Amino acid sequence: MRLDGKVALITGGANGIGLATARLFAKEGARIILWDVSPKGRDVVDDLKSGGVQAIFQQLSVSDEAAVISAVNEACEHFGRIDILINNAGITKDRTLLKMSSQEWDDVISVNLSGVFHCTKAVAAVMKNQNYGRIVSASSVVGIRGNYGQTNYVATKSAIIGMTKVWALELGKYGITSNCIAPGFISTDMTDLMPEVVRNQMITQVPLGFWGNTEDVAYAYLFLASDEARYVNGVCLNVDGGFTR
Ligand SMILES: NC(=O)c1ccc[n+]([C@@H]2O[C@H](COP(=O)([O-])OP(=O)(O)OC[C@H]3O[C@@H](n4cnc5c(N)ncnc54)[C@H](O)[C@@H]3O)[C@@H](O)[C@H]2O)c1
Repeated sequence: MRLDGKVALITGGANGIGLATARLFAKEGARIILWDVSPKGRDVVDDLKSGGVQAIFQQLSVSDEAAVISAVNEACEHFGRIDILINNAGITKDRTLLKMSSQEWDDVISVNLSGVFHCTKAVAAVMKNQNYGRIVSASSVVGIRGNYGQTNYVATKSAIIGMTKVWALELGKYGITSNCIAPGFISTDMTDLMPEVVRNQMITQVPLGFWGNTEDVAYAYLFLASDEARYVNGVCLNVDGGFTR
């Protein structure tokens, strides 16, 4: 198993890509710390535990720094270490620039950007003491290419690519790698709600000609979180069927 005995913290693990990642990592032998603002995370963890996986759920918002610090302390008391951090939680509040309110800007920045900062800062301190860690964060193809109506979201996803490179530089000497992924068009509950005509139009831009699924992204997280990627540091891995090239 590729993550045998590792302790993996996955943010936003109650749904979509985070949920698929929690299940895949558990199958690969990891013990799971699952964070989500939604109480649904408890069902996910109960389900993992019923399959014999060691897992805990902590309900919190990654934007709440005090909650993040106290949950990291609690998780360390429980498992004794944190080997992998998957900064996966993210939200959108789309609006074109001229219509976007400061509240919509702040809401997305506080989860997607400040949340990643709080989680990484708290967990990197633990990883430094272990002299081992894998940090993988969710950027997006829109962080590279931009996207209509997503000033706030794109700002956070571009920033994640930059922060990843800073952390690769700062944390490498502690045995910690920092990488990110940039998913493209991935079928989730959210994107499945889009009109079929829009979905079909988007897919014309993807050389492979189909939408990715949550497992496609989970496998990219898995590689970067595993020891197979021990010499990969500071990169952004596109998981987009060739959309960005
Ligand atoms: N789905 C895509 O096509 C796609 C493409 C590129 C990037 N991404 C990124 O991948 C990540 C996962 O996306 P998804 O499609 O699975 O999203 P999703 O909406 O299905 O799941 C996100 C999870 O994060 C949780 N969450 C939201 N705010 C939170 C907070 N403040 N604190 C803790 N948890 C919180 C939600 O409750 C949910 O369980 C996001 O960062 C997203 O930006 C997704």
